[in-house]
Amino acid sequence: MTVTEVARSGTTVTEHPLLGIMPALAADALGTMTAVARERGDFARVRLFTYPGVLVSHPDLIEEVLIAQNRGFVKSLATRRLRAVLGSGLLTSDGDFWRRQRRLAQPAFHRDRIAAYAAVMVDAAERVAGTWRDGQQCDVHDEMMRLTLEIVGKTLFSANVGGAAQEIGRAVDDALHFLIRRINSPWVLLPDWVPSPGYGRFIRARRHLDRVVYQMIADHRRQGDRDDLLSMLLQAQDEDGQPMSDRQVRDEVMTLFLAGHETTAIALSWTWYLLAQHPEVERRLTAELAEVLGGRLPTPADLPSLTYIGHVVAESLRLYPPAWSMGRQATRNLEIGGQPVRKGTVILISQWVLHRDARFFQDPEAFRPERWEDGLAQRLPRFAYFPFGGGPRQCIGNGFALMEATLLLATLAQRYRLALVPGQSIGLDPTITLRPRGGIQMLLHLR
Ligand code: HEM
Repeated sequence: MTVTEVARSGTTVTEHPLLGIMPALAADALGTMTAVARERGDFARVRLFTYPGVLVSHPDLIEEVLIAQNRGFVKSLATRRLRAVLGSGLLTSDGDFWRRQRRLAQPAFHRDRIAAYAAVMVDAAERVAGTWRDGQQCDVHDEMMRLTLEIVGKTLFSANVGGAAQEIGRAVDDALHFLIRRINSPWVLLPDWVPSPGYGRFIRARRHLDRVVYQMIADHRRQGDRDDLLSMLLQAQDEDGQPMSDRQVRDEVMTLFLAGHETTAIALSWTWYLLAQHPEVERRLTAELAEVLGGRLPTPADLPSLTYIGHVVAESLRLYPPAWSMGRQATRNLEIGGQPVRKGTVILISQWVLHRDARFFQDPEAFRPERWEDGLAQRLPRFAYFPFGGGPRQCIGNGFALMEATLLLATLAQRYRLALVPGQSIGLDPTITLRPRGGIQMLLHLR
């Protein structure tokens, strides 16, 4: 084999006397989570710095946390630390404030509304394909980020690529880079305003972001409806006729910008990686494209007929879930599966662990889109497969992301076949999302 994936198995978990499993998570988060679940079971007590924690790895227990008892939990400390950039947006807020924001934002993600963005997605894919050359080598993760960044810029605030979207992308990246380092270190225990290395740069990036986003809001307010997500957010009103304040719109724009492009780019990058290693899957995929589209560009009306591509995307999200873990914190004493959980306990839930659990998936490490063909999704327990989370906090962009991934694959795979550059070692970088470490080098072959 000329392309090797960094192996993550065989770890045994050791807890540091002061820091608990944090050093083990920092060294190998995926291996540690897997080992904790294997060694300590579906309800596994761990310590995270000074906090008691539980890794919950059975679908029924996860359902208790995310659905039945969801009001007993808030987002975890790590997610709340993202507020330093995202403010109180959908991803980072809790309770009544979150409920109001979700109600206000939901119409922007209505199926018909999202379908209107399909043309933007296909157009962007066509443009990117137009810059590709036969035989060219590229980092497919960079290419997919470029593509989804352009799409989020257009659908969120009608910005053209090369302009505001890229500028915001860079500033968000800078600010997040700082926060991720901080979240993964004991600094996470200190309040946001205590400076740690890189704080000055972080503050500058955030100030820059605020300037750009507030300007965009002011422009939109002046110009009226522009048929984008920002316009929808500005028009939204609650039952009392109250719209969002500029500060709330700023927080949601930042949240959607962040949550709305990197995850989908990662999903596509891993999909290309898997397709390149499974020529028989790639052949079936291109045969379906030829049969359904016959060389023309896809539209949302084609999605129900592109079933095999749907299974390829589902299987890729199973093996490489871009959101590979989620966290909550108990706001009161409660029980999970009959086990006592004290107020303040951190609950960890990992898609990576569940999606590769042999109790629910036969031959779990194998990439087999066919497994989804005979109604597996309906037979599985609700939380054996949950790339978009679940319950009231389920990803608001679920439909957007699945449509985007399918349309982009359908557009690009009709024109190009992507092959892995031999000799590289593909690593996994499980920070907040499951990025390919150092990218994935691929060769573009015109069909
Ligand atoms: C493959 C792509 C994506 C994946 C795997 C993904 C995954 C997730 C997951 C697992 C959650 C739940 C987190 C939790 O409960 O702690 C979430 C929440 C969220 N996602 Fe996504 N997401 C994707 C794409 C998108 C897109 C395209 C958007 C927006 C355009 C988006 C916006 C959001 C927002 C705003 C939330 C917070 C929802 C709430 O709490 O009300 N996501 N996402």
